[in-house]
Amino acid sequence: MKKKILSAVLCVSMAAALLAGCGSSSSTSADTTEETTEEETEEAAEEETEAVEEASEESAEAAEVTTVTEGVLTMGTNAAFPPYEYYDEDEIVGIDAEIAEALAEKLGLTLEIVDMDFSSIITSVQSGKIDVGIAGMTVTEDRLENVNFTDSYATGVQVIIVPEGSEITSVDDLSNEDLLIGVQEGTTGHIYCSDDYGEDRVIAYTNGATAVQALLQGKVDCVVIDQQPAISFVEANEGLAILDTEYVIEEYAIAVSKDNEALLDALNAALAELTADGTVQSILDTYITAE
Ligand code: ARG
Repeated sequence: MKKKILSAVLCVSMAAALLAGCGSSSSTSADTTEETTEEETEEAAEEETEAVEEASEESAEAAEVTTVTEGVLTMGTNAAFPPYEYYDEDEIVGIDAEIAEALAEKLGLTLEIVDMDFSSIITSVQSGKIDVGIAGMTVTEDRLENVNFTDSYATGVQVIIVPEGSEITSVDDLSNEDLLIGVQEGTTGHIYCSDDYGEDRVIAYTNGATAVQALLQGKVDCVVIDQQPAISFVEANEGLAILDTEYVIEEYAIAVSKDNEALLDALNAALAELTADGTVQSILDTYITAE
């Protein structure tokens, strides 16, 4: 059952609406200035300011978002996607985990991370099992039919990993009908490759790490995956290289249920603050070093 919780974050327009409302219903004499003395006018102005300040505090508390579990922001992810989400011993860490932690704090919620198959994240958001999908998830037209996305917080690039010395040297070489392409199931890499080269030549693995294992074992000829995980996988395994060519450029954002516009608004407001004060960039910089 969904329960209501108080949120410390409010969207600017909501605050403005509440303030306007309080201003007009306040009992100060702001609209009868003609008959008042200067002193009275000053007093009235002070009272008005106090009323506005109070209203601002109240409205901040009154902004409510509903989450799956009261007081908790439940995030679904697929934690085999470094540096966005991966395990450090038994803890899920990474860019998305840190951004989610900062967002939850702004919303006055405790963060809980649920690890799942990437292809289950959108349906879990839709069915109300989780509040948000934060998983280096690309905004696509198809996904927008099923969930809402917040504003983007990062850019992603689909790249191609090959064994060192591979005959594949550019995106064009993927057209070679003898080649098998490894992807992570349900990702944009999976979708684009199936569309461009046909499903028969595309082998989907549960996650990026298993796709890369398959490449190391020679079961596929290349892996199409997001650039930052690609860099992590290539660093962690000998004999692999990333082609110096970009397949597709994308925007990452947070998936939210279409039934929870209040949460979407609150997340966008919090994200805007965390972007403006440099928090998002500093989290990205912690994990991504300039090439
Ligand atoms: N950006 C790609 C997509 O949205 C891949 C994301 C995979 N994320 C993950 N945590 N495994 O389809």
